[in-house]
Amino acid sequence: MSKIRIGIVGCGAIGSSLAKFIKQDLKRKARLAALYDLDAQKALRLSALAGGCPVARDLAHLIEKSDLVIEAASKNYSFAIARQALAGGCDCMIMSVGGIIDKFKTLEALAARHGANVFIPSGAISGIDGLKSARLGRIRKVTLTTTKNPLSFKGVEYVRKKGIKLDGLKRELTLFSGSARQAVKFFPQNINVAAILSLAGLGPDKTRIRIVASPGVKTNTHEIEIQSESGTIRTRTENVLHPDNPKTSFLAVLSAIAVLKQMLEPIRIGT
Ligand SMILES: NC(=O)c1ccc[n+]([C@@H]2O[C@H](COP(=O)([O-])OP(=O)(O)OC[C@H]3O[C@@H](n4cnc5c(N)ncnc54)[C@H](O)[C@@H]3O)[C@@H](O)[C@H]2O)c1
Repeated sequence: MSKIRIGIVGCGAIGSSLAKFIKQDLKRKARLAALYDLDAQKALRLSALAGGCPVARDLAHLIEKSDLVIEAASKNYSFAIARQALAGGCDCMIMSVGGIIDKFKTLEALAARHGANVFIPSGAISGIDGLKSARLGRIRKVTLTTTKNPLSFKGVEYVRKKGIKLDGLKRELTLFSGSARQAVKFFPQNINVAAILSLAGLGPDKTRIRIVASPGVKTNTHEIEIQSESGTIRTRTENVLHPDNPKTSFLAVLSAIAVLKQMLEPIRIGT
């Protein structure tokens, strides 16, 4: 069987971790075929660390060289990257899930038209497995409470416009409560998990999100409650942050690796 050729778009914290893993641990079944970043220096640096993997001159060039395109770039571009990859006959893994929340149906139609697959890892939350099963029956309610250090919300326009003071916060403060669609809009860099949860379950308007700033916490914590006719599921994930990007949880990277492994292994455990 020929090796699956993987191209990575976005050579930051996630793209770099994935590139190193593919190169070291998946080398029997996969080949790192191309790297691309808007910041060419980042792609070149990662290429040097990943054994001289070719740097693509643009997205089209990367797509030509790949069977699977991994988007690890930005919510502003994730839909366009996925669309171009699917149109080029590639499968696509999407990390910036906030960027596709409004365009999921279009993506589904595109994937079907081109006979390609879209992979969306669970990211930094637990419970997607149970939610996918519960969804086959009736789901009544899905809620996510995300708690982070106030520093994580520095520079968020929604917080500034509401006049919320994060400096010197002494106790937990709820910054936002509303739908996943609104959460992704107002907290674009903080809340990929809201997008993932909503796409797996009740959709962006019915999935409820609460965002909490809590002084003293060092982890990004995501608590999920799912009420369905098959029962109630509660999960709590306390995430260690990625050393290269404190906005990204380490588990999110591992979840992408787990999806890659699952694609390449003969036995698949879990939903
Ligand atoms: N699904 C999840 O659970 C999850 C978790 C954390 C982060 N993310 C998302 O994954 C993405 C990557 O995260 P990261 O921590 O690696 O970020 P990062 O900032 O460390 O790296 C992103 C890289 O992408 C590059 N880039 C931006 N736009 C590009 C484009 N159009 N084409 C090519 N390169 C481009 C940037 O130059 C940068 O090098 C972000 O959008 C982030 O929000 C998803």
